[in-house]
Amino acid sequence: MDSYLSTAVDIAKESGALLAQLFQRPHQISYKSKFNLVTEADRRSEAVIIERLRTHFPKHAVVAEEGGGQKTASDYCWYVDPLDGTTNFAHGFPVFCVSLGLAYRDELIAGVVYDPMREELFTAERNAGAYLNNQRIHVSKNASLDVSLLATGFPVFGAMDHGLNIQLYHRFTQICHGIRRAGSAALDLCSVAAGRFEGFWELKLNPWDKAAGALLVTEAGGRVSDLSGGAFSLQKDEIFASNGLVHDAMCQVFTEVMGNQGQQAGTASG
Ligand code: IPD
Ligand code: CA
Ligand code: CA
Repeated sequence: MDSYLSTAVDIAKESGALLAQLFQRPHQISYKSKFNLVTEADRRSEAVIIERLRTHFPKHAVVAEEGGGQKTASDYCWYVDPLDGTTNFAHGFPVFCVSLGLAYRDELIAGVVYDPMREELFTAERNAGAYLNNQRIHVSKNASLDVSLLATGFPVFGAMDHGLNIQLYHRFTQICHGIRRAGSAALDLCSVAAGRFEGFWELKLNPWDKAAGALLVTEAGGRVSDLSGGAFSLQKDEIFASNGLVHDAMCQVFTEVMGNQGQQAGTASG
């Protein structure tokens, strides 16, 4: 197990250093769809990661955002986001990272998130705790929503949630210290793990955005679920992570706002 994590750390540092280097140069931007950017850095970072994973773990399956992964019969699967925060990167906003999560039979067992701008390396192994630059980290002890700092994210491809997340954002803004939308789901999850945010939720994420970060949160003593408080799954779009202490209070707000939205939709169509 140790070799999985230490190899993943080496790979994340190598690809992170590449991102830091490319960040200083003009970017070649192309579009996957109207607002969904991809840069040469996403592709080059993924190429490095895939090459290294194939060398070290040739039989393991790999699911990678830019399509370089491989399906195999292995019980081990790596979830790779070679650049989480592409839109930030493309605009010169220095908030982005590399995220590598390893699952065994769908259970997360190791995760690494590396932020090359701040040289922050977040690591976790199942049942072995969460670390930032080799120092143990824990979620915050704050049990009250009204003094919490929260975070969320919005999908780049438009209002697929019919405005639900804007309503959630609006409601939480009224009952906590504030909400951050920094543009990297993996780093948002690490901020929950490190006690910087009390909670983070997002409605439309892919497995590579959240695999490593979800393990970081649980290993730091937090809780990860869906928005109803039900079991977390990599295959579900949504994620809700918290320090555990504000979990039920936030779930209640999700339920209220989703209920109101359902009623408004019913009134509009009825
Ligand atoms: C995005 C970031 C962002 C989140 C989006 C993701 P990408 O990933 O994590 O914070 O709000 O939903 O797609 O495209 O930069 O790897
Ligand atoms: Ca991502
Ligand atoms: Ca990405």
